[in-house]
Amino acid sequence: MHAALPGSQAGRSREGWPCSGLDRHPPGKAKLRVRTRPENVMQSFDETNITSAVLAKVAQATSPRARQVSEALIRHLHAFVRDIEPTEAEWLSAIEFLTCTGQMCSRTRQEFILLSDTLGVSMLVDAINHRHPGAATQTTVLGPFYVQDAPEFALGDDISRGMPGEKLLVEGSVARADGTPVAGAIVDTWHADQDGFYDVQTPSGLETPAGRARLRTDAQGRFWFHTVVPASYPIPDDGPVGDMLKLQGRHPYRPAHVHFMIGAPGCETLVTHIFIAGDRYLASDVVFGVKDMLIRPLETQATGPARLRYDFVLADARPAATGVASPPQQG
Ligand code: BEZ
Ligand code: FE
Repeated sequence: MHAALPGSQAGRSREGWPCSGLDRHPPGKAKLRVRTRPENVMQSFDETNITSAVLAKVAQATSPRARQVSEALIRHLHAFVRDIEPTEAEWLSAIEFLTCTGQMCSRTRQEFILLSDTLGVSMLVDAINHRHPGAATQTTVLGPFYVQDAPEFALGDDISRGMPGEKLLVEGSVARADGTPVAGAIVDTWHADQDGFYDVQTPSGLETPAGRARLRTDAQGRFWFHTVVPASYPIPDDGPVGDMLKLQGRHPYRPAHVHFMIGAPGCETLVTHIFIAGDRYLASDVVFGVKDMLIRPLETQATGPARLRYDFVLADARPAATGVASPPQQG
C-alpha cells in the first residue's frame, strides 16, 4: 500500500482537490536504489546554485528548440517559486491541482484547455501565431467543444436538430484578402443552446450532434443555415478550474457566440467566433476571447427569424517552414 497524500480523499478539502490518490512511488518502483557519485562532482544544492545546476543538465538537449524550451521552463518555474516562496503544503496542493486537472479530462471534457483559456494563455498563443492578419478576419480561441467530423449539412438546412431556443438565420460569405470569393470553403460551425449548453454536454451529445455542422460555401462564397439563438454561458466550473476562478474572485461566463472554423486550399484555416452585440459579458469574457471586429448585432426581421451575418476573410496560407510570425516592432 502506498500512502495517499493529504487532500487526496474523495471529498474536497480545504487543503486540496478531490483527485484519486497521488502516490509518491508508483507500484513496482519501490526498490531502494543506492546512488554513488564520483568524489569530484559537487552535489550540494541550495537556493543559490540549484537553477544553474538544472540548466546545465539540459545543455545537451536533442535539438536547439528542446534546449530553448527546457531552459525557459526551468528559469521561469524557478523564478515563480522564488517569487511566491510556497510552503511545502502549498506546493503539494499545486501538484494535486494539476493532477485533478488531468483526471478531469475525458472525451468530452478538456480541463487543461479550460486552464489555458482562463489564464489567458490560449489567447496569447493565438495572438503570437496570428500577428499580421491584415484584412483577414481576426482569430480567437477554439475552446473545448469543437468536435472533428461534424455532420454535413446542405446550405439552408436547420442544424439545431431540436435544440431549444429562438429561431435564428446565420448567413455570410468567405473571401480571400483580395476580395475573391472562396467557393467550396469548408465551414465548420458549433454553438450552445438557449440555456448555454453544447450538445456534447448532454449524455447523448456525441451520438446525436445538435447545433453543430459542416457546410460548404456556394460558387459565390456564400453560406447560410438555420438554427437557434445561443445564450451566454458559464464554462464548466465544477472542477479544478472552477475552484481556481472562485479563489481568484472571477465569474465563469462567456458572452453568447457562434463558433466557426473555416478552411480552403491556399488559405490559413480561420478559427473564430461571431459574438452577439449587447451581451452583458462582452467586456468580461472569462477566456479573454472577444475582439471588437467579431461582434455583430442580432438583426430582427419584419418576418422570419432573427438574423446574424458575417463576411469572413481568409489570410493566405503561410509557407510551412516560416512557423511563428515575427514579433511586433517597437515604437
Ligand atoms: C467555448 O467558447 O466553447 C469555450 C472556450 C473556452 C473555454 C470554454 C468554452
Ligand atoms: Fe463556445
